[in-house]
Amino acid sequence: MLRWGGIVGGLELCGTVRRRARRCAALASRSRIARVIGEPLTIGPVRLATNMLLAPVAGYCDLAFRLVVRGCGGVGLASTDLLSPHGLLRGSAKSLDLAQTAAGDAPLGMQLYGNDAAILADGAAWAVDHGAAVVDINMGCPVDKVTKTNGGSMLLCDPQRTTRLAERVVGAVEKASLGRVPVTAKVRLGWDSRSIVAPRLARRLEGAGIAAVTVHGRTTEQRFRGEVDLDGIGEVVAAVDRIPIIGNGDVTTPEACVRMLRVTGCAGVMIGRGAFSAPWLPRACWSLQTTGRVGPEPTFEEKLDLIMRYFGLMLEHRGERYAMTHIRRRISWFAKRLGPCKPFREAIRTAPGPAEVRAALAEFRHGGWADRAARGPAAALVA
Ligand SMILES: Cc1cc2nc3c(=O)[nH]c(=O)nc-3n(C[C@H](O)[C@H](O)[C@H](O)COP(=O)(O)O)c2cc1C
Repeated sequence: MLRWGGIVGGLELCGTVRRRARRCAALASRSRIARVIGEPLTIGPVRLATNMLLAPVAGYCDLAFRLVVRGCGGVGLASTDLLSPHGLLRGSAKSLDLAQTAAGDAPLGMQLYGNDAAILADGAAWAVDHGAAVVDINMGCPVDKVTKTNGGSMLLCDPQRTTRLAERVVGAVEKASLGRVPVTAKVRLGWDSRSIVAPRLARRLEGAGIAAVTVHGRTTEQRFRGEVDLDGIGEVVAAVDRIPIIGNGDVTTPEACVRMLRVTGCAGVMIGRGAFSAPWLPRACWSLQTTGRVGPEPTFEEKLDLIMRYFGLMLEHRGERYAMTHIRRRISWFAKRLGPCKPFREAIRTAPGPAEVRAALAEFRHGGWADRAARGPAAALVA
């Protein structure tokens, strides 16, 4: 007997059909594995250097952070946070700051959100004119501010309308870029477990001219809870004919990256939170794929250099107020890979200005504070 789950946008899968689809997906995936491990990703006309992508993470993956992660190596494509096309077109300072890019920040994906096809199309053309090598449409954001205006994850709920919207954006970008810039989409598996739409939506988007789809292997309802569903990502891989599918979710080690490629057959892996404490993670993932080895973790001094570089880039591109706010917030992430370092962390958190941040880094580097254990042999990358 078929048990039908909830309905979202008329797309639904019963338990039996889903299990069968999963088996087919697994088989299809296995045949693709040999072709995806260590293989640079091509998105439409854009050939990336690797198959590793840095995720859009609002409030984290700003220009400074992207430059730091890119500097470590391994990143094929990095993305801005989600951008409001209204804001870009109005020239709002906040949106322009978020869309900021610089030499060394290429190739860059610019991600837009919204549900108004005309505004999204204009915003996408703006992105092309301002340095985007790829334009991405956000179809996965679960945050109320975005879904209340029918953007982000709400686009999963009406696949027909979403497909038309994608067609419009693809047309605008083709015209603005003369076919140089592909349009991609970033989705979740569905709104909830009873409305898994990603496979069928990806197929429709492929038909609409979308050049790649990134799948965060969770539902909107899950937000960040539970484990990422690799089989669910594999179903999306199996559902499309030509375009690459990029897997995303919970990749915090090179081994998890290779597992995602192997289990799902996806053509690329996108890393978000894993890079906060290990900006060298994309490099290590690429290294494991291409050499079979993870490669050395940065030394204690190199890690402090990364923090200093991040801070310096924030000062340069966003000014003192922004740099101070963000270094105080982010230091606990960086510190996760520095060993015991509470006094250092506290010194950064309470630093009144850039001089004190620099002094704290110098003191830690030169043996200040008691927690010198951090300077011992680097911990394994797999924490
Ligand atoms: C604080 C936060 C902000 C995020 N902002 C965005 C965003 O702007 N656009 C987007 O597509 N996804 C966003 N995401 C989702 C991530 O891109 C990614 O899909 C998710 O974190 C799972 O990948 P990870 O486990 O590697 O972090 C955000 C996630 C977090 C935790």
